Amino acid sequence: MVVEIKPNGASLGADVAGVDLSQPIDDAAFQMIADAWRDHAVLRFRGQQLDDEALCRFSARFGELDNAPVRPTNIPYHPDRKEIAVISNIVEGDVPIGGLGNSELVWHQDMSYKDLPPKASLLYGIEVPAEGGDTAFYNMYAALETLPAALRARIEGRECKHDATRNSAGQLRAGLQESYSNEERPGAVHPLIVRHPVSGREALYLGRRPNAWIVGMSDAESDALLDELWAHIENGAHTWTQSWQAGDLVIWDNRCTLHRRGPLDPALRRRMHRTQVRDEARPVAA
Ligand code: SIN
Repeated sequence: MVVEIKPNGASLGADVAGVDLSQPIDDAAFQMIADAWRDHAVLRFRGQQLDDEALCRFSARFGELDNAPVRPTNIPYHPDRKEIAVISNIVEGDVPIGGLGNSELVWHQDMSYKDLPPKASLLYGIEVPAEGGDTAFYNMYAALETLPAALRARIEGRECKHDATRNSAGQLRAGLQESYSNEERPGAVHPLIVRHPVSGREALYLGRRPNAWIVGMSDAESDALLDELWAHIENGAHTWTQSWQAGDLVIWDNRCTLHRRGPLDPALRRRMHRTQVRDEARPVAA
C-alpha cells in the first residue's frame, strides 16, 4: 500500500490515494493518514467500496465510535448499528430511510451540543445525485487567524452555549420543546476559542448560529456579538467544497472545521452513512 496525500490547494482538504479502506490498513499507512488529517483537517478517499462493517472498522482506527444523534422521530437512524447515522432524502413507503431530508444544512460542528462532541465524522457516499447536495467545509484555524483583534478581544475567555434542541436542518429533536430561555435551553457550554489537542493550534469554536448564546451576556448583547462572528465566517473564503461521487469517503475534524450542505433536488436520490468518533477530552480554552 503506497499512500499518496494530494492537498487540494484550498484552505483545507486533501485527497488520499493508494488506499483500499475495505482492507486492513497497516500502522505506517494509518500514521500517514492521521498526520495528513492533522495537517489538512478534511481528507477525501475516492473510489471506495465499503459495507457498514468496513466503514465502522476504518472509523474506529481514529478512536471509539459515538452513537448517532437522536432523530426528530426518535426512530434510530440505522436498524442494526447505533453508530451509523443514515443521512438521506429517500422515502420508502412513506417512511424516510434516513435523516436531514432535502433541506440545506446550516454551518455547524457535529454534535457540539454535547459535553464531549465527536472529534471526527466520516461520511460515505452510497447513492449521490449527479448535481447538488455538495458539502462545504470551513477552516476554523483560519477563521480565528483572520478575526479582527478587537473582535477577538471581546470573546477571549468567553464561552458559548450550543443548542441541543434542533438539528442542522432546523428540525426539533424528539422529546425537546419549541421554546426555552437561553439559560434553560438544553445544550453544552464550550469556550469560543479552543486549542486543538493534536495540532496545538488555536481555533474559533462556534458550533451553529441558531439558538447559540454567549454565557453571561444579555440575549441582545449575545446576539449582536454572535452576528458579528458569523458575519466574519460568511465573509471569509477559508472553504473547500466536496462534490460527491458514489464511493467517496470524507473524514473531517470537528474541532477545527464547520460544514454545511447545499441545496438538494428532492427528485434526486442521496444516501450516505456517517460515523462519528468520540474525542478523548472536551474542548479546552486556548
Ligand atoms: C452532516 O452534516 O453530517 C451531513 C452533511 C451532508 O449531508 O452533506
